[in-house]
Amino acid sequence: MRVVRTTDYHDMSRKAANVISAQVILKPDSVLGLATGSSPIGTYEQLAKWNQKGDCDFSAVTTYNLDEYRGLTHDDPQSYHYFMRKNFFDHINIDLANTHVPDGSNPDAAAACAQYDREVAAAGYPDLQLLGVGRNGHIGFNEPDDVFSKGTHCVNLTQSTIQANSRLFEREEDVPRQAYTMGVQTIMYARMILLIASGKDKAEAVRDLIYGPVTPRCPASILQLHHHCIVIADEDALSLCPKE
Ligand code: F6R
Repeated sequence: MRVVRTTDYHDMSRKAANVISAQVILKPDSVLGLATGSSPIGTYEQLAKWNQKGDCDFSAVTTYNLDEYRGLTHDDPQSYHYFMRKNFFDHINIDLANTHVPDGSNPDAAAACAQYDREVAAAGYPDLQLLGVGRNGHIGFNEPDDVFSKGTHCVNLTQSTIQANSRLFEREEDVPRQAYTMGVQTIMYARMILLIASGKDKAEAVRDLIYGPVTPRCPASILQLHHHCIVIADEDALSLCPKE
């Protein structure tokens, strides 16, 4: 695991965008695994700027997002389908037909998740998977548990995640209680993993994922076992970690 320390969110975002841009320059038909949430917004903004300047071409890129709320249509402003268009896809030259997000509008969880697993596998799994991390160490919507999850599956969100995500909804009651998420095993199939974290509220999760025991109680700790994982985090997120 390589750890890159940045001064702040902006610095983290530019460095993460540099890594993703290098991946796309070296392999124009890259498969990218993508995340939603606050962490990657600055990275997506930077990549969109480079794309508009002609420096980073997404025309041959394919993407697979980690997760989606169950029960939301693709056009629901709270859905991750919508988030990805608004924050990234609408600003770059990607072919929308090559972008994939689990189908939260399909009430048949088993069918929706199995279909997503088939698609990710057929694409050969991501060359690079971008991840944020939850305050409780979750990746995707893989919450702390007794075991590591495997393929895409339906999860009940924990109260802490519902609370954290409620900032994006009018009321906490509006946050969906379930989501479809890629499993930890699928995430680990990516050839490179880039985890980004910013802010003091991520400090415990970042310390545990880098230095703690590898345990499903902190799902992100599994990344210690990945052969090519880079963590780009700012001073605040690394504030509980030793300065190496
Ligand atoms: C989002 C996702 C989540 C977030 C995590 C951190 O697709 O998979 O695991 O990465 O909840 O969220 P932010 O970045 O909003 O702090």
